[in-house]
Amino acid sequence: MINKVKGTYDILPEESSRWQNLETTIANVSRLFNFKEIRTPIFEYSELFHRGVGESTDIIKKETYDLTDRADRMLTLRPEGTASIVRSVIENKLYADPNQPLKLYYYGPMFRYERQQKGRYRQFYQFGAEAIGAHSPLVDAEVINFAATFLEALRIKDITLKINSLGDNESKENYRNALINYLKPNVHELCGDCQRRYQENPLRVLDCKVDKNHPVLTEAPKPLDFLTDADRFHFDQVLSALDAIGLEYEIDKSLVRGLDYYTHTVFEIDTDLASLGAQSTLVGGGRYNHLFESLDGPNVPAVGFAFGIERLLLALESIEKEVAAPCIHCFMIALGDDVQESALKIVNELRHGGLICDYDFFNKNLKGKFKQSERLNPIINLIYGTEEMKHNCINVKETKSGVQETVSLDQLYPYILKLIQNQSSGCNGNCSNCDDC
Ligand code: HAM
Repeated sequence: MINKVKGTYDILPEESSRWQNLETTIANVSRLFNFKEIRTPIFEYSELFHRGVGESTDIIKKETYDLTDRADRMLTLRPEGTASIVRSVIENKLYADPNQPLKLYYYGPMFRYERQQKGRYRQFYQFGAEAIGAHSPLVDAEVINFAATFLEALRIKDITLKINSLGDNESKENYRNALINYLKPNVHELCGDCQRRYQENPLRVLDCKVDKNHPVLTEAPKPLDFLTDADRFHFDQVLSALDAIGLEYEIDKSLVRGLDYYTHTVFEIDTDLASLGAQSTLVGGGRYNHLFESLDGPNVPAVGFAFGIERLLLALESIEKEVAAPCIHCFMIALGDDVQESALKIVNELRHGGLICDYDFFNKNLKGKFKQSERLNPIINLIYGTEEMKHNCINVKETKSGVQETVSLDQLYPYILKLIQNQSSGCNGNCSNCDDC
């Protein structure tokens, strides 16, 4: 038997409505903030990510899915969305759009060869947003607010917004030199990964999960202490805008993020929900004012974020009180071979009128048919046999009250519509199928 690839998963039918609900919320909240969707290919030339994300990052060093196509081109399955969006904005000259900043969002699968664990997969989905073309600290705050509003729309509450600033190139360079000098005599006390990072990308040493409480790291100089006056002013303005919106945050002086392109603001939103275990970061993002230039584009500032969808679903799992009940409008219980085609015709007409209907295709007995109906949880059971067919009528049974009426077929559609309007579907408000949702 051929199984799924390690680190991937199937979204089975009983799970898919949760994904669809999340996708609807993504579209709705993006509309609120006037972000428009952009869709880019799943693979790109490898060079895009090497240059965009950074040669010395963990993602590029050990996590990309690289392939050579039949014409020997080096391609990579996208490990994240930002580099692709920037590539597309440059290639399609969207940066010249008179509407600035350009506000784009995206949703789709990403690929990283990481060790599989809860909340961490090799194919995973991201919902990301990028605001392109503005230096204003208000835009950093707008993007953070967008991420927080999205979580609020999902009713995920146990969250902490962590924020920090790396500053622009001058601040980053000053900090980098100070950190190298500080670590030089101490780095041998840290883990092997830190020693490698010290050589290749010293900032990432601060991100170490193994040695995060080691005094060498807790006492290390922090980026905030090396910001130029202008960069400090930008950060203060971001914080002041967050205060004005009423968004609570925690300044995390050690937050540096794992991708090379960040400048100025970096942020993450973590959840305290136990269901996520170690993978508690729901969203990560920040400003990247030089990525366009490093991908041969014009000098365009930008700021954005990306959520991991699987982690959102895990977080939602623990706050959803009950699993969303599947619910449909009508279930047809047709009794006897001679009525099947006529029953299908009735169902078909109801569907054309916008009603969600299902049908028992197996020749079950009445008990079996009612059992199936219970599983589908319709508002109405339609019971149709030889007698009803003869008299051009059908039995309509409300599942909630158990009340049954015989209704003439030409009155069936308006009768059902009225019933549905008058009665709550009995769903828990999460099914997205019924009139109440
Ligand atoms: P990132 O921190 O690499 O940032 O990923 C963003 C989010 O994607 C993480 O916080 C996490 O929720 C989710 N994620 C990452 N890797 C995995 C995985 N293996 N399995 C499941 N979920 C995962 C970026 O990707 C940046 N492009 C974000 C950004 C956009 N910065 C500016 N604009």
